[in-house]
Amino acid sequence: STVGIFLFIKCAFADNCGFIRLPLVITTPHNMEALNGSCLQIQCTYDTKYFGYDSSKTIYGIWMKGGVNFVSNPSIVIFNSSGSINKYSLNMTGNLKEKNCTTLFPDIQTSHADKYYFRVENGGYLATACADPLYITVKDSPWSPSINVPSDLKEHQSVTVTCSAFTPCPHSPPELTWTLQQDSLRQTEKNTNGTFTIKIQENITLSDTHDGYNISCSARYPVIGGNKTAETEVTLSVSYAPKDTSASISPSGLVSAGSWVELSCSSRAKPPPRFTWFRISKYGTFNVSVGQVFSFCVTERGEFYCMATNDLGNQRSS
Ligand SMILES: *[C@@H]1O[C@H](CO)[C@@H](O)[C@H](O)[C@H]1NC(C)=O
Ligand SMILES: *[C@@H]1O[C@H](CO)[C@@H](O)[C@H](O)[C@H]1NC(C)=O
Ligand SMILES: *[C@@H]1O[C@H](CO)[C@@H](O)[C@H](O)[C@H]1NC(C)=O
Ligand SMILES: *[C@@H]1O[C@H](CO)[C@@H](O)[C@H](O)[C@H]1NC(C)=O
Ligand SMILES: *[C@@H]1O[C@H](CO)[C@@H](O)[C@H](O)[C@H]1NC(C)=O
Ligand SMILES: *[C@@H]1O[C@H](CO)[C@@H](O)[C@H](O)[C@H]1NC(C)=O
Ligand SMILES: *[C@@H]1O[C@H](CO)[C@@H](O)[C@H](O)[C@H]1NC(C)=O
Ligand SMILES: *[C@@H]1O[C@H](CO)[C@@H](O)[C@H](O)[C@H]1NC(C)=O
Ligand SMILES: *[C@@H]1O[C@H](CO)[C@@H](O)[C@H](O)[C@H]1NC(C)=O
Repeated sequence: STVGIFLFIKCAFADNCGFIRLPLVITTPHNMEALNGSCLQIQCTYDTKYFGYDSSKTIYGIWMKGGVNFVSNPSIVIFNSSGSINKYSLNMTGNLKEKNCTTLFPDIQTSHADKYYFRVENGGYLATACADPLYITVKDSPWSPSINVPSDLKEHQSVTVTCSAFTPCPHSPPELTWTLQQDSLRQTEKNTNGTFTIKIQENITLSDTHDGYNISCSARYPVIGGNKTAETEVTLSVSYAPKDTSASISPSGLVSAGSWVELSCSSRAKPPPRFTWFRISKYGTFNVSVGQVFSFCVTERGEFYCMATNDLGNQRSS
């Protein structure tokens, strides 16, 4: 019947993500996020099994988009490596003979978000990777970079601080800048899922001055007609031994016997210090009080100092 022929033609064209399942297997990240106006590199390899694939014949790589139902709403061909169809100016940079279907979307737009199927045509071998669709989502705002600092920072430690940003297109990566040195080591890494990350890193030797220090990192993604920037900030929390430990006396100056004096100790430390007061006498040095403030009734002249202590060390006052 006419209907039968019509269905047959539809099936042959849309190849079956309906019922004919030829075994074409592709490896892509499965789900990819892109930035509107930027580019996207799809890492892709394919594998052909069982059928009459002949690498001496021309191999055409085809991308198809969308499609819900192969009869009434089949996926449409948007790219054919023969050059006959290229709706989105894609560039297949992978070598199809090496089963590499890596493809570049030079200018991806919000309207391109969809599911995509890869197809190979090679002589009589026609196969679509129906079971391995690639889902592409397109966002309008860039990804915030992530700053990585080890936990539990202590002074004198040497640590590696990194800032990394998701990189949809390794040959057009975001520009990373941060409040640490600009000549930091820069590298692009390939993630196990086939996406890329660009990273800058720097080693810093920590001191108490780094406590409360803000590191901000920004990722500027090139897009058509400008850049899109996202920023991340982290505040360092660094533990350090007591610093600037000093003692004060109140009232100051000459004190009469029988009156009260108050000795007070101050210090900068993280975590906050404990204080101990010592008295130096001709019989030795004695621990006379614990606590920041030491009040007592004066009977004779004396020499005192305080000591501030935390887990990282101690320091005495004059
Ligand atoms: C791929 O891996 C990177 C880094 O591990 C991760 O940030 C990204 O979300 C992953 N993407 C997908 C689609 O799983
Ligand atoms: C995507 O970018 C284009 C310009 O490159 C712009 O016209 C369009 O409005 C953007 N889409 C969204 C959803 O912002
Ligand atoms: C792809 O292009 C080749 C060569 O022009 C052609 O034989 C083939 O039918 C095309 N396939 C699709 C699905 O457009
Ligand atoms: C496709 O990409 C290759 C490698 O990046 C480049 O040399 C070539 O000019 C690109 N072709 C087009 C049509 O953009
Ligand atoms: C596929 O080709 C791309 C270049 O377009 C290359 O970067 C990638 O390493 C190749 N993948 C494999 C598995 O050879
Ligand atoms: C930073 O420290 C790491 C690990 O301690 C080391 O492998 C790396 O070579 C150092 N980098 C620089 C630039 O000193
Ligand atoms: C670091 O950032 C926080 C919050 O944005 C701010 O309150 C603080 O003053 C900043 N510290 C420095 C040293 O700039
Ligand atoms: C985009 O950022 C680059 C540096 O990453 C800069 O050279 C260029 O001027 C910026 N373009 C616009 C339009 O802001
Ligand atoms: C000082 O004496 C108190 C109470 O006897 C004791 O708990 C503390 O450990 C002593 N501190 C030092 C530094 O000797």
